[in-house]
Amino acid sequence: MAESKHLCDCQQQVDEVKCLKRLDVVIKEYREKPGALIPVLQIAQGLFGYLPEVALKRISLGLDKSYSEVAGVVGFYSFFSTVPRGRNLIRVCLGTACYVRGGKQVLEAIKKHLGIDVGQTTPDKLFSLEVARCFGACGLAPAITVNDDVHQRVKSAKVHEIINSYRKVPKGKAARQKRVKS
Ligand code: FES
Repeated sequence: MAESKHLCDCQQQVDEVKCLKRLDVVIKEYREKPGALIPVLQIAQGLFGYLPEVALKRISLGLDKSYSEVAGVVGFYSFFSTVPRGRNLIRVCLGTACYVRGGKQVLEAIKKHLGIDVGQTTPDKLFSLEVARCFGACGLAPAITVNDDVHQRVKSAKVHEIINSYRKVPKGKAARQKRVKS
């Protein structure tokens, strides 16, 4: 499966034309390959930062698939988003191990601290919140991720500290400093 990373500088101020041109190149490259839809969607999300309707239409046409099929795949996988995400993506695990060890309370604490619900982005565009089902860190539950960082044994009372540590750190730097935190 292709990596979902940003391939151009259009995440903040979307230069739609530029991104669409890049997307056309990607579609051309993948159109003859079997199972092209998901990798192309991943790359498109990397280009735009999310999956706008215009990109989905372009992919539908380019890969010769119905729009409803493309939209259906996007809706099925939680890692695809049709709304712009914030600079930092927080994902709270609600898998069984995390749930029974307080994952729900951690989620509530994050929602309260940020003032947003699951699937929403803060007005300053710094944080988006999603839920997930198991990061493979069950032994040290409850776990959350912030971008590429995994935080384990998270306590509701401490979520503000975790979140605040991302307010001024450029995206990616925290990940380089400490990939796994417990
Ligand atoms: S259930 Fe949360 S990391 Fe596995």
